[in-house]
Amino acid sequence: MRAVTKTVLGLGIAGTGVLGWASLVERNAFVLRRYDVPVLPDGAAPLRVLHLSDLHLLPRQRAKRAWVHSLASLDPDLVITTGDNIAADDAVPALLDAYELLLGIPGAFVLGSNDYFAPTLKNPLRYLTRHHARGVGTTPRLPTADLVRGLRSQGWVDLTNRRRCLSVRGQRIEFVGVDDPHLDYDRLDLVRGPASPDADVTLGITHAPYQRVLDAYAADGAGLIIAGHTHGGQVCVPGYGALVTNCDLDTSRVKGLSRWWPGAGSTPSSQAPEGAAWLEVSAGLGTAPTAPVRLACRPEATLLTLVPRSQG
Ligand SMILES: [Fe+2]
Repeated sequence: MRAVTKTVLGLGIAGTGVLGWASLVERNAFVLRRYDVPVLPDGAAPLRVLHLSDLHLLPRQRAKRAWVHSLASLDPDLVITTGDNIAADDAVPALLDAYELLLGIPGAFVLGSNDYFAPTLKNPLRYLTRHHARGVGTTPRLPTADLVRGLRSQGWVDLTNRRRCLSVRGQRIEFVGVDDPHLDYDRLDLVRGPASPDADVTLGITHAPYQRVLDAYAADGAGLIIAGHTHGGQVCVPGYGALVTNCDLDTSRVKGLSRWWPGAGSTPSSQAPEGAAWLEVSAGLGTAPTAPVRLACRPEATLLTLVPRSQG
């Protein structure tokens, strides 16, 4: 009996330790990931793209705000944000303060479900199910118009179901964006079409990397697809990895750089055909306030250096 008691006690202490680590330490252990992506024409100068996603910012999160603020020192050429910026109706000023130095750099954004709807209290383990709450019609709205106005204030391009071109350091970048596919807000019919032959590269941007969106972007000739939403699985098994992606993407692509092509499904990136698009999924910088834990999945931002295809 004493052995059973000791075992139960030991498991309880270990569980409390893991929960403390996941909620107090790892959730705030921000890290910058760096990848080279060979998508530019031969002879093009490298282009540095800072990708931010899923801040789920609350005004009181000063460490996160300061860390994001400091990313301007990377001197990126372009900033992309893929949504889920805020987690409260008073978070927009704090977010714009965190982005203050980045807003003066050319940029583009799409929104996520958590830019529309406030988080609601729910079982954190629901993140591990296929039925993660989408929020539509059941939760309070967030100040989306204020958020969009702030992000656009110094020139960032709103890619909500839009297609746009930007000239960045003399290179012509074509963007294709959709509203959040997790809410079924994506209107691919409005943005589909072949990649512009005049563009040096076409970037496909989405909050949630659902296969229907990745297939469309890849079929239309996007060189690189950039997404967030998955939180990298958020609560991962050390030594194994993610259990879920919170969408229909396979767990091998839950974060980091991989390849995608029409109909890729769960086929490994190692079997990518020639000309397959690159896919970068960010594990994001935050969590919903109702599930404030990260395990074996540090919060991250990404610096993508686009280089000529010949350097692939
Ligand atoms: Fe998110």
